[in-house]
Amino acid sequence: MSSTELRLQVLARHLQTDKAFSHNTLARQSCCVTDVSQLAGPLLQGQVAVITGSGQGLAAAAAELFALHGAKVVVTDIDADKAQQVAVRIRENGGEAHAICGDVTTDDFPERLATGTVKQFGRIDILLNSAGFHWGGMLHRLSKKRWDALLAVHCTAAFRMIQAVAPHMRDAAKKEMQSSDRASPRTIINVSSTVGLHGEVGQVNYSAAKAALIGLTKTVAKEWGPFNVRSNAIAYGWINTRLTQVGTALHLNNGLPDAHGTHFMDPHELHNHAEFLAHRPQIWHQDFYGC
Ligand SMILES: NC(=O)c1ccc[n+]([C@@H]2O[C@H](COP(=O)([O-])OP(=O)(O)OC[C@H]3O[C@@H](n4cnc5c(N)ncnc54)[C@H](O)[C@@H]3O)[C@@H](O)[C@H]2O)c1
Repeated sequence: MSSTELRLQVLARHLQTDKAFSHNTLARQSCCVTDVSQLAGPLLQGQVAVITGSGQGLAAAAAELFALHGAKVVVTDIDADKAQQVAVRIRENGGEAHAICGDVTTDDFPERLATGTVKQFGRIDILLNSAGFHWGGMLHRLSKKRWDALLAVHCTAAFRMIQAVAPHMRDAAKKEMQSSDRASPRTIINVSSTVGLHGEVGQVNYSAAKAALIGLTKTVAKEWGPFNVRSNAIAYGWINTRLTQVGTALHLNNGLPDAHGTHFMDPHELHNHAEFLAHRPQIWHQDFYGC
């Protein structure tokens, strides 16, 4: 057995037995397992992925990795310029990508994104819900406007995206099963946070939204699992992106370690969690917690 196969087995065993991981243990193992340089690819050949918030940060890194593994990627972000730049970069590197830009919290965008993807690439196999931002405050004085904004972008938008892809994922799978008894593997990945698992000072709206996302993820796993649609949530810790820039700078200026006592991870160290979940059909409705 090769070392890569061994690592894959170890990670699969973790995913099958443990529901909760702390700190970055699993992150490191997963980084080893899915390091592109170690894996024979392409792992997502011919699959079509829609990745929200992929103009930058974690989702942009995931988009580039998915494309490297043969997926056709729809890059989507409220920031149209950044989304276009990611799509161009992927195409320049030999991948297939198309940008469809818009705000995931608006009424018509999820549907427009799903139909636009199918028009461009013919199907949807992977939905990665990652779009989001921080707008916190202490609970006792947090405005309802901030509460609503974060619930909308981190939770309601994911729910609406999943509903929008239902005809192309759940219903398409159901049709395949009627004609051949077998549906091809499809997957939903929602980006949660350790803050959703443990709470955090000044982040009541963010933590509530990220916790709700886990319930949403588990329900999709139960409702769509029988159609071979896996559903997973990734709960990241603190990663150095635009979202955390102010906090990271404060910590570093004060000589403090990151929340896990190690170092602030870079999106490229972690995007492979999503890629791992996208291509592992056999662990189809396990939860992936607490990196
Ligand atoms: N960075 C971290 O430490 C960390 C930790 C845990 C979870 N997360 C989660 O990971 C996800 C990605 O965060 P990131 O760190 O890469 O942040 P980021 O700010 O680098 O990227 C987020 C992207 O989402 C886009 N976006 C925001 N609102 C949108 C909307 N309404 N419609 C469409 N696009 C929108 C932004 O334009 C941006 O490009 C988020 O859901 C975040 O909550 C991040």
